[in-house]
Amino acid sequence: MFQVQLSTDGDVVTLTHGNDIARFHAIWLRDNAWDEDTRAPGNGQRLIALRDIDAGVHVTAARMEGGQLHLTFAPEGRSIAYDLAWLMEHSYDRAQNRAPGWLADSAEAWDARLMDNVPTGDFAAVLGDPSARAAWLAQIARYGFAKLQDGPVEDGALFKVVDLFGHVRETNYGSKFEVRTEINPTNLAYTGLGLQAHTDNPYRDPMPTVQVLYCLESTAEGGENMVVDGFAAARRLREENPEWFDVLSQHCARFEYAGTGVRLQSRRPMIELDPDGALRAVRFNNRSAAAITDVPFDVMPAYYAAYRRLGEIIDDPSMEVSFRLEPGESFLVDNTRVLHARKGYSGTGTRWFQGCYADMDGVRSTLAALQKPRKEAAE
Ligand code: FE2
Repeated sequence: MFQVQLSTDGDVVTLTHGNDIARFHAIWLRDNAWDEDTRAPGNGQRLIALRDIDAGVHVTAARMEGGQLHLTFAPEGRSIAYDLAWLMEHSYDRAQNRAPGWLADSAEAWDARLMDNVPTGDFAAVLGDPSARAAWLAQIARYGFAKLQDGPVEDGALFKVVDLFGHVRETNYGSKFEVRTEINPTNLAYTGLGLQAHTDNPYRDPMPTVQVLYCLESTAEGGENMVVDGFAAARRLREENPEWFDVLSQHCARFEYAGTGVRLQSRRPMIELDPDGALRAVRFNNRSAAAITDVPFDVMPAYYAAYRRLGEIIDDPSMEVSFRLEPGESFLVDNTRVLHARKGYSGTGTRWFQGCYADMDGVRSTLAALQKPRKEAAE
């Protein structure tokens, strides 16, 4: 049972539903009306601009009728009906500040304990069954990575993975890149080394936000793939030492990659926050780290201490989830969040992977469209 209360000045409408209380401002309510003069029927595009709403807009009457909230606005003098569930779903009546490092949307931090339940989809099911596709994409949105198994074993199969949610992001490496290694006794010594967990291409701005790695051959022992939740690592750093978290989020690092005809450079923080403190991205890649010049002299020692500790947390086995990929299996990471690495080899053989980039907006869009189909227009 909903109850409505109007402030005496008509500026605030309060909805009460059981223990839930949500206050809304008159200007917000008028701007978010869904009547056919405000929103186009069908595609829902907004038909008015803020300049079309009087700055002194207020509510003169509020009543419940037929399961809807009816509000009369002055100076327009119009009455507009609101869907109560929509209003409660869009409530913004919350405490002003959240601790920096909070997780937006449906993200959930994880550590090695996720190993018992590695997010996985089946290629044929995800391709053919919309609910299986939504479930697979929802795992990527929640954990920042997922495996896909039983896919085709053929050159370019990774593009079929990208087709499930979006488009390939081509770079100077081409539309895909080859990771092909012959591991024999002569080169075992150096190829056998694992890589430190990293995010890819932090020197691009914007960086590619999805990486797909697809296994076509894997006869060598070892060489498992591993992933670390960069958001969990950043949050652990903050728990241990809030100043170190601040120093990495409040200063820019620099990243660089120089190749034939390319010199990619970026100036972005290792821990990037939204203006409201939500974790937006983690960038961590020792191979493309450039000289850091945006940290004041007196702060540099703390910056290096924080950078070192973040690396130690990332290297901590209690943070990592590892899995072996067989031919036809692939995994996808949210490259703004989840670090990846390959572990060392312990035997000889061949290993052939193909990789490509794509973007998370495709993941989120396809997921949202599957969960809530709606005719959409551009913008
Ligand atoms: Fe990589």
